[in-house]
Parts: sequence; C-alpha cells; structure tokens
Amino acid sequence: MKRVLTGIRPTGSLHLGHYVGALKQWLEIQDSEEYECFFLIADIQALTTHSEKPDLLKKSVREVVLDWLSVGLDPTHSNVNFVLQSQVLERHALSNLFMMIAKYSEVMRNPTLKTELDMQENATMGFMAYPVDQIADVYMVNPVPAMKEDQILVPVGADQVPHLEYARDLAIRFNNKYGRMFIPCEPLVGDIGRLVGTDGQAKMGKSTNNAIFLNDSQSVIRKKVMSMYSDPNRQNSPALLYHQAFGSDKAKTDLLVKNYQEGVIGDKQLKEALLEELEKFLTPIRIRRAEYEEENLEVILERGTGYAQTECRKVVSLMMRHMKLGYPEL
Ligand code: TRP
Repeated sequence: MKRVLTGIRPTGSLHLGHYVGALKQWLEIQDSEEYECFFLIADIQALTTHSEKPDLLKKSVREVVLDWLSVGLDPTHSNVNFVLQSQVLERHALSNLFMMIAKYSEVMRNPTLKTELDMQENATMGFMAYPVDQIADVYMVNPVPAMKEDQILVPVGADQVPHLEYARDLAIRFNNKYGRMFIPCEPLVGDIGRLVGTDGQAKMGKSTNNAIFLNDSQSVIRKKVMSMYSDPNRQNSPALLYHQAFGSDKAKTDLLVKNYQEGVIGDKQLKEALLEELEKFLTPIRIRRAEYEEENLEVILERGTGYAQTECRKVVSLMMRHMKLGYPEL
C-alpha cells in the first residue's frame, strides 16, 4: 500500500505560491494513480495560531476546498480523499498518545517551531505541541496491519522536513517500545518551486499583501500585475519569474526573458504578456470553480473524512492494545 498524506491550514484563500509550491506536485501525484491520497484541511492546526478567528477558519475551509477542486484535485477519483481534520475525532486520541512518547526537550529544539515561535507573542500550549499533533495526521492513515513494502509519503516544503524527521523518530520509538505497527513516513520534497511576492519579496504570502490569489478576478489581477515591483537590474522582477513559472510555451518564455533582460522590451510589455499567460492558466480554474460553487461540498468532505475515520480507528485501537490501555481482565 502506498499512501500520500499532506495538509494545509485553512487560514485564507490559496494563491499562486501555493500552486507552485504544493498543489502542482499534488496534482502530479494524484494523476499518477500510484498512490492513495489524503489531502488534509488542518483546521485544528489552524487554531494553533488563529484561535481568535473561528469565522475566518470556517469560511476558509470552504475556500480551500473550492481552491483544490478548481485546480483539478478530484475526490471523485477513488484514490483521492479530502479530509477535514477536526472531524476525525479518533485522530485527537492518536495525537494524545504520541504526546506521551515525545520529549519536551526534543520539541523545543525543532528549528521550524523555533523560527515560528519568534514571530509569536503569546503562544498557546496547542501551538507548542503542534509538531507532535501533526504526527497524528500522518499516522492516522498508517496501514493496519502494516506490511514491509507499505509506504507513507508526505509531500511538503523544506520548512516541514524537521517535522517529518521527528515523525519518523517517534514511529521508530513506538515500534521499539511497544511493538511494531508504524511505517516511518518519508518526506517528499521534490523539485518544488517557491514563488516571490508581487513586491519582489522572497515569498508570496497571504498576510504580506503580495499575493495573487487563485480566485482573484481578471481586473484585480490586472491591477496587481501592473503595479508589480520591477528589478532595476532586470534579473529578479516578479513578472519575469512568473513567466518562468506559468508560461505555457517554453520557447516563447525564453525569448521574452531574453528580450527583457537585453532591454529590447520594457516592463509594460513584459507585464501585458504575463497577463495573457495568467489568464490562460486561470481560465479553466475559474470555470471549474464556478461549477463547484453550485455543488454540495459537504458531501465531498464527508466521504474522505469518513474513510480517514475508519482507517484511524484501526490505528488507535491497535496502538492502545500495544500500550496496554484497556479494562483490567478479571
Ligand atoms: N504544517 C503544515 C503546513 O503548515 C500543514 C500540515 C498539517 C501538514 N498537517 C500536516 C503537512 C500533515 C503534512 C502532513 O504547511
């Protein structure tokens, strides 16, 4: 059994950076049909930083589902599941059990947690524990019984790799201490791109006001593109980099890049050409989105979530058996 599990926190709509850095790779995995895929909407994890914004999270769950469907993730395929984290109650039990074998000192050394902690004022316990909680996300789809050749792959960006290494460590620790049942997961970092923001800053982000969203209208995109930052050296202008990420014809893109860098064309022309490419890329996405907006998204989420529950229940019950948790035998 080859399974893929990955997730996103629903704290807003998704943008082109999410597409290049994650969704594009997820689509390839889905379409290869080699894996059973679990795409997780991590609404509990979103609470680790956004517990004061329940309305935003609720709205974002719908937005993320629509974003996923619109780019072509397709839960009508039998190998594709959309899972709403909070609704898999069994997963919370799994999380609690992993907490017991995760050491405080290890979690405090996690470099990703440390970096994120620096940007927080009053971190909650939930936040401090999220690297362990995330391990429960991964292993809720651990096959029961696990076979030698089974695999759990986790496609993520480089910042998530420490979390996955820790997920491997804890699986091995559990196996050694209580009995073999977990397949240590493997990160799948691959050749993932990172997209600069429209302001030329290193990363496109929802909170930094430098993103082009998958659901932005044509006129909004025109405004954003036309006011995009231009690199005076013509090397790192976002418009140039976006051509490279979204250009539909490599030869045409290469020529545009060359002409721009040699000063044959200016920013305005480069941006007009980019608008055309973005429209070409976004038109089918918009069409699919409009179709799905009429559909019952709850049913879609319930199917995948229900399947995850069934799988997770098996994991929890075996884990509890291994940990000798149960009524005393009389
Ligand atoms: N922490 C991930 C992120 O912020 C999201 C996530 C939640 C995740 N659960 C996961 C990723 C499980 C991989 C596996 O991007």
